[in-house]
Amino acid sequence: MLSDTPTLEEYLAYAADLTARGAAAFTAAADEDALETARIQFLGDKRGELLLLQRALGALPADSRRDAGRAFNDAKTRLTTTHDERQLTVRHATTRAPHLDLTMPARHRWQGAKHPVTVVIDEIVGIFRELGFTVALGPESESEWYNFGALNFPPDHPALDMHDTLYLGEGALLRTHTSPVQVRTLQRYAPPIRILAPGTAFRRDPFDASHAPAFAQIEGLAVDEGISFVDLKATLTHFAQRFFGKTRTRFRPSHFPFTEPSAEMDVECRLCGGAGCSACKGTGWMEILGSGLVHPSVLEAAGVDSERYTGWAFGMGPARIAMLRYDLPDIRLLYDSDMRFLQQVAE
Ligand code: PHE
Repeated sequence: MLSDTPTLEEYLAYAADLTARGAAAFTAAADEDALETARIQFLGDKRGELLLLQRALGALPADSRRDAGRAFNDAKTRLTTTHDERQLTVRHATTRAPHLDLTMPARHRWQGAKHPVTVVIDEIVGIFRELGFTVALGPESESEWYNFGALNFPPDHPALDMHDTLYLGEGALLRTHTSPVQVRTLQRYAPPIRILAPGTAFRRDPFDASHAPAFAQIEGLAVDEGISFVDLKATLTHFAQRFFGKTRTRFRPSHFPFTEPSAEMDVECRLCGGAGCSACKGTGWMEILGSGLVHPSVLEAAGVDSERYTGWAFGMGPARIAMLRYDLPDIRLLYDSDMRFLQQVAE
């Protein structure tokens, strides 16, 4: 600190010392914050050291003021230029950090997407939701009774054969279709019932171009008073139009133990538009689902009064539908989980 009545020599020495300290502090400042702290200490306009140096000029004898004033001006110039130069440097350093190499190639970002079978399931569920259907689920390991008995399969039906069904032992098996969810739902809820049951089904099939041992299925069930085949036909036709766009549909008689009458629904071949091609084996039609009026014995097995209530049901394979939509020749593409394939069809 300067004394209250400094000599010229003391003033000059002090000015030189202040300049050296200030310049060193500015140069040492590593970032803008540190530089600002140093600026306030030396160049601050309230209690900055340079300001105090200027005030001390008045305490000098009159004949010293000229030299002292020059020393003060030098100190001021030196400090402000050192500060301003340092400011440019630290600003530059923070905006262009040297460790950021802008020429480096960007890293690939993997983004998840829904599996094509899931996309199809979600869309089917969405269309039926608009009609008042809700989603119901059931177990993948089932009893023989839910999978076959309650669904009116005769005990000697070939589907019960070890050859077709994956048995787990002690009357348990992997469900061969989602139809047991019909029975579970009817047991649990009183009509009116409108449900959709997506899930996995299992069969002892070879894994080939059109069969998978584990595959997606969607079951639909509507039970109420006065339901007839007209409801089935109208609802499934509406679904086909919503899902595939304007298309012709047809119903062919079929057989399932748990529906009577039973019908399979075909849509116009997606590839040839009905003219006939190799994909539809020249028929112009593609089968998309099995359906029928719920057999009275199924209603009774589940404890529903079949005199009062009737219903219809359908079962559909979303992977088959995905094959139509994405024009796939082999169902294994959908169940192999090969990323090269999945990335091509991801929506
Ligand atoms: N469960 C039948 C199957 O797996 C499909 C189906 C369901 C048919 C409901 C009619 C009614 O093939």
